[in-house]
Amino acid sequence: MVGPGVKRQDPGMSPAGPPSRRDLVLGLGLGLGVGVGVGVGVGLGGALTAGCGRERAGRDGRAAGPGDAVAGSASPAPDAVGSAAPAPAAASPPAPPPPSAGDAIRGPDDARFPSFTGADGAAITRRPIPSTGELLPAIGLGSWPTFDVGPDEVEGVLPVVAHFLARGGRVIDSSPMYGQAEAAIGRMLAAVRAAEPTAPDAFVATKVWTSGERAGREQMERSMRRLGVSRLDLMQIHNLLDWKVHLKTLRAWKEAGRFRYLGVTHYQHGAFAELEQLVRRERLDFVQLPYSVADRAAEARLLPAAAAAGVAVLVMQPFDSGALFRRVRGKPLPPVAAELGCSSWAQLFLVWLLGHPAVTCPIPATSRVAHLLDNMGALTARVPDAAQRAAIVRAVEA
Ligand SMILES: NC(=O)c1ccc[n+]([C@@H]2O[C@H](COP(=O)([O-])OP(=O)(O)OC[C@H]3O[C@@H](n4cnc5c(N)ncnc54)[C@H](OP(=O)(O)O)[C@@H]3O)[C@@H](O)[C@H]2O)c1
Repeated sequence: MVGPGVKRQDPGMSPAGPPSRRDLVLGLGLGLGVGVGVGVGVGLGGALTAGCGRERAGRDGRAAGPGDAVAGSASPAPDAVGSAAPAPAAASPPAPPPPSAGDAIRGPDDARFPSFTGADGAAITRRPIPSTGELLPAIGLGSWPTFDVGPDEVEGVLPVVAHFLARGGRVIDSSPMYGQAEAAIGRMLAAVRAAEPTAPDAFVATKVWTSGERAGREQMERSMRRLGVSRLDLMQIHNLLDWKVHLKTLRAWKEAGRFRYLGVTHYQHGAFAELEQLVRRERLDFVQLPYSVADRAAEARLLPAAAAAGVAVLVMQPFDSGALFRRVRGKPLPPVAAELGCSSWAQLFLVWLLGHPAVTCPIPATSRVAHLLDNMGALTARVPDAAQRAAIVRAVEA
């Protein structure tokens, strides 16, 4: 993974190519043509232009944010800091102001803002959360480092979130570890709601990443304020940091209706044994773990444990943090792609994950609309059987 301040190389291009500006405006269902964003009541100044292929100079040259305390340009990415890292005493950026009812930014006949119902009509792969049976669209959205942007830069990634929701996506994952990502997500979701009141709600997941009960409570309150929610869909204990303490709070807050689901995450193979113990013993709703064609360690014990215990699985690093694209660069798609209705390697990597019965929802991260649209294509592709999964692995490893 690449830390903030490091210019990440584009690991691959969508074969579909970037959509035209017209496609973006018509397909977004939000208002990337509103000219000015001042009316949305979410603090998005300036034209809301499409983020496809946006310049990243803003990110690379941004002022230090809260996450910089643990993830400066010379440091590993936040998630690589591991469970031993103390939480930074992050200054709380102002919570996103709620949208105002008087701030409608579109008229009912405005062709720039088609409704969100189109994507819902398509047959998309959904997976149940085992603990309740609630169905989730099986492709989600990560937020590190892509959404670690300040208020002035949110407009650059807002189209990614708007397209994600318009294409049937729901699960958005964040963490207080990810700099300004929670506040950016709060602003973007408020902007989408203001522009398109019929837009479906996101399923918002974040994490607690600090030590001590009081610090955990304070951090979780802050995260919910930043995300603009009074009830969170999923709270996870990030990298198992101080999990015994936080799990008690998570259970109490879930009981009180403040969280709908609770879970744990870790990114390291060395933590899989402990993750497995928690999955088996602690009545979790979710576990988040790394899994991809390039990293199949979770198959040995953790995924079977999650399936046996009825724990939903969010998959972090589904593209091995982008390394998979470098691995297949220049390689033609294998014949199995056509069988599955996949038009890119990204879609193959994602449906390969969905071919494992324990997987609920991979959460790829992107800051580019073209890549987002590419990834969402996996929602309508066929899910591979064991032989087709093996063919995908062979094609990647050939
Ligand atoms: N401990 C934890 O709990 C933990 C640890 C790690 C990650 N996570 C979560 O998991 C999420 C995903 O992990 P990740 O971001 O490390 O890795 P990832 O999703 O496997 O890979 C992201 C990389 O793939 C590129 N990409 C995305 N879609 C593409 C496409 N269609 N074609 C070509 N390139 C594409 C992105 O670049 P572009 O931006 O240019 O598209 C980026 O470089 C994180 O954002 C975070 O929310 C959690």
